[in-house]
Amino acid sequence: MVTTHTLNLFVGAFTLLNITRTQNGNPIADVTYGEVPAGTIMYTPTGYMSAVLTATDPSLRPLDLTLPAQSNQTDAEWAKVGEHTLGYSGPFYFNDTVSTDDFHGQIIHGPLIAATLPSFVGSLQHRDFVFTENGNYLNLIGNLGDGVVDSLWWKRLVRNVTFV
Ligand SMILES: *[C@@H]1O[C@H](CO)[C@@H](O)[C@H](O)[C@H]1NC(C)=O
Ligand SMILES: *[C@@H]1O[C@H](CO)[C@@H](O)[C@H](O)[C@H]1NC(C)=O
Ligand SMILES: *[C@@H]1O[C@H](CO)[C@@H](O)[C@H](O)[C@H]1NC(C)=O
Repeated sequence: MVTTHTLNLFVGAFTLLNITRTQNGNPIADVTYGEVPAGTIMYTPTGYMSAVLTATDPSLRPLDLTLPAQSNQTDAEWAKVGEHTLGYSGPFYFNDTVSTDDFHGQIIHGPLIAATLPSFVGSLQHRDFVFTENGNYLNLIGNLGDGVVDSLWWKRLVRNVTFV
């Protein structure tokens, strides 16, 4: 059984430190988010999550685009944004059969309510998790199929409440 301690470790916000992609255990380049990815992931105490991942390299991420889209902006520029960005949100729960202790287990994001990638809507995203350093660092590991595994390290963001 996943404990309330594990749930409490998830509650909060984390910033992305790095992504390592491997295939059959060998590191491979991650062209999705480039060499310096950015991201946040958040978990609410009521059982919902959201994640945003983007590239930061301007060659993967045209900086001059605005909303609403303008007629002098190309579909190719917008396609780059689509290819190098992922955002999604939905409920989360735990896979009880995989948990070993409070700091290790498997979290399931989904069924996703909204996602930038249309095929993710309604999907379940399984991620093995490891918390280190008293819960301040979170490693999420996702199996993308064909032996491709993404390992994302996240660092907890400090409490930031300016209205009290
Ligand atoms: C596109 O149009 C907007 C407003 O119409 C303008 O501010 C911008 O400089 C234009 N961008 C390019 C690349 O021409
Ligand atoms: C939980 O993990 C086990 C082992 O990886 C897997 O077989 C099972 O499908 C998972 N359960 C859910 C609900 O995803
Ligand atoms: C908290 O947020 C405010 C903006 O609302 C920002 O100015 C401040 O630097 C933040 N503090 C921390 C510790 O991140």
